[in-house]
Amino acid sequence: MRVPDCIDDRPETREAYSHDWTEDLRFLPDAVAFPESPEEIQTVLRYAYAHDIPIIPAGGRTGLSGGMLPVQGGWVLSLEKLNHILDIDTTNFQAHVEAGVITEALHRAVEAVGLFYPPDPSSRGSSTIGGNIAHNAGGVRTIKYGTTREYILALEAFLPDGTPIRTGSHTLKNSTGYNLTHLLVGSEGTLAVIHRATLKLLPKPQHRRTLLMGFPDMGAALRAVVTILRQGILPCAIEFMEQDAVRFGEAYLGEKLYDTSSYGGLLLIEVDGNYPDKLEEEAAHIEEIAYQEGARQSWYATTDTEREKLWRLRRCLGIAVKSSGPYKEEDTVVPRSHLPALLTEVKRLGRQYGFRSVCYGHVGDGNLHVNILRENLPDSVWQEVIPQAVEELFRFVVAHNGALSGEHGIGWVQRRYMRIQFTEAELSLMRRLKTAFDPKGLLNPGKLFPA
Ligand code: LAC
Ligand code: ZN
Repeated sequence: MRVPDCIDDRPETREAYSHDWTEDLRFLPDAVAFPESPEEIQTVLRYAYAHDIPIIPAGGRTGLSGGMLPVQGGWVLSLEKLNHILDIDTTNFQAHVEAGVITEALHRAVEAVGLFYPPDPSSRGSSTIGGNIAHNAGGVRTIKYGTTREYILALEAFLPDGTPIRTGSHTLKNSTGYNLTHLLVGSEGTLAVIHRATLKLLPKPQHRRTLLMGFPDMGAALRAVVTILRQGILPCAIEFMEQDAVRFGEAYLGEKLYDTSSYGGLLLIEVDGNYPDKLEEEAAHIEEIAYQEGARQSWYATTDTEREKLWRLRRCLGIAVKSSGPYKEEDTVVPRSHLPALLTEVKRLGRQYGFRSVCYGHVGDGNLHVNILRENLPDSVWQEVIPQAVEELFRFVVAHNGALSGEHGIGWVQRRYMRIQFTEAELSLMRRLKTAFDPKGLLNPGKLFPA
């Protein structure tokens, strides 16, 4: 057997594929495979299977849980050259795409024909559909439209030995057998190499109205979320930023849109639809409720430029925090009524363990990104004490019916906490599923499961 042609083992390539967006972690792969067709993926997998080489599927490498880090060496299998939109079916509202398509490129292509692919992670400019599927990516529109999972009708993938499989069907309903599609969504490259997907599309909403609201403190902003949603209006986004998060964002962008400095917590709310008058009514109603709930000021984005600026601020927060220095990102999610208690607990843990946190997130769906900054913490505290604080945080989350990750996945950095959420029986069931797909344990080894 000859080493496949699409393998690149030059030092600079290995270095470039040794990290994603997770903290400052680096693990060198032995090589990187760049297949350009399904047949080439199969050739790589057959060779790797015969030679017991670990295979780590990779997309845009924007992950925040270390899902593509080659922690046991082996080959990173980059799907980036399989980046074609094969078909947009404007009759059945579906798209057939290769895994390496950049999320934003898909957005543009379907919107150009009046359709809409809602999942919208902040990394959309460089993340890929395959990576979004692997992590069940969410983003800012989940409250109204759901996560990636809701838009995956069918998948084409390879088992680790190169056997091709197809899951699902090109239909909106399907009650045929086990749902392997939804098992693969969120499986973080541990079960199969997904290379094509059939996506469900919606008609594109023609208009949106966007509001930013300042609350005196974080708790007031989070409490307002529940009340706003009780009014019978379903916004397409309800995003929270604590004051510090806004500061990081503004510093990163080097610009300021509104003076929000006297507000501890801010909500960015957007409604979408086809009737501008109705949207304006909805926005005004939301504003009124927010004032009753303690909001002190609101800013209505009247132009596209203002709206885009607001979203640029919100979307850059992850990268803004990352570029400020080492940090850990915890992707907590709880039923949204528990958010005020969750944030209080985060800040209490910060005082107890001596760390500063910056929080923001998709609070309409209960998803709070907790960024723990390293700042001047010594090695011993960062390596040993902070994980204890995170463990306490996740115990709180699970006790409040939440989950370890809302959208970033477990990957490499969160697997140590899996026992907080799952019993041994549940983990063992997951391990048996893993073995059924990947008996040799070659696909993305070392991920998801606690050591
Ligand atoms: C965001 C990414 C970090 O919400 O999930 O910006
Ligand atoms: Zn997010």
